Amino acid sequence: MALTATDMATGLDTIRRVRDLRACVASWRGAGLKVGLVPTMGALHGGHFSLVRRSVASLDRTIVTLFVNPRQFGPNEDFARYPRDEAGDAAALARQGAQVLFAPSLEEMYPEGAVTTVAVPDIGDLLEGEFRPGFFTGVATVVAKLLIQAAPDVAFFGEKDFQQLCVIKRMATDLDLPVTIEGCPIVREDDGLALSSRNAYLSAEERKRAPALHRILQSVVTRVREGGAGCVAAAEALAARELLVAGFEKVDYVAVRDASSLAPIASVGAPARVLAAAWLGRTRLIDNLPLSGS
Ligand code: PAF
Repeated sequence: MALTATDMATGLDTIRRVRDLRACVASWRGAGLKVGLVPTMGALHGGHFSLVRRSVASLDRTIVTLFVNPRQFGPNEDFARYPRDEAGDAAALARQGAQVLFAPSLEEMYPEGAVTTVAVPDIGDLLEGEFRPGFFTGVATVVAKLLIQAAPDVAFFGEKDFQQLCVIKRMATDLDLPVTIEGCPIVREDDGLALSSRNAYLSAEERKRAPALHRILQSVVTRVREGGAGCVAAAEALAARELLVAGFEKVDYVAVRDASSLAPIASVGAPARVLAAAWLGRTRLIDNLPLSGS
């Protein structure tokens, strides 16, 4: 396994080939060590670091993956301008105590002729799936590959992408992948904005407006807790209007859903989430909050 000059300084191994990753994990397993995996697209922030710290605290070895996966971006989405800073990410990961950064090339992940995909219908077709066709197939395909390549005991994902977490849990169960998928709480700025690599796109003016998303989701939680399932539709519609008043240009959805199936809820009590996606200028923000028990 090749080390770069940066790696030599920080103690973090950067691995680019699947065969080297497998050899590394096999040597750990031979020594009886447990392995954690944190899949990312880089541009790491406090949300990612919370996942890494959780893995470092609960497992013997932590692999962080960095791959900006073209298959989960639509033709008009931000693949080309997605923030990239591998050197900065590697230095930060070494400080967080991860042992390996797996940063494969496009050709390594999708060699010529690779056509197999992993689709997770139903739960992957709702909400984000409606607005970003193909997104979850891209995510499920790359995450299935990473789980097969790294064969971790536990893989960590942020609840910020709550539907993604549900899709990945479904996929891992359906494919009998021998891994525990662990969801970790959203990390927020002091003003409530959920940390996201895409926050870097916001102008100073948009950044001031952005925390309204969290605030308005909190109001939905309060209204539905007080008014019950009968007031869900009205609470969703009111929140969409409030987002527009708060300066969001477009609201893709505000939805109160069952926390595992993401189906509309019939009653308040079972674990549920309120989820939203809305646009500030050219930046699409998503966020969610537990309604009850989730
Ligand atoms: O959440 C992300 O950063 C990505 O969707 C993931 C899970 C790393 C797959 O590319």
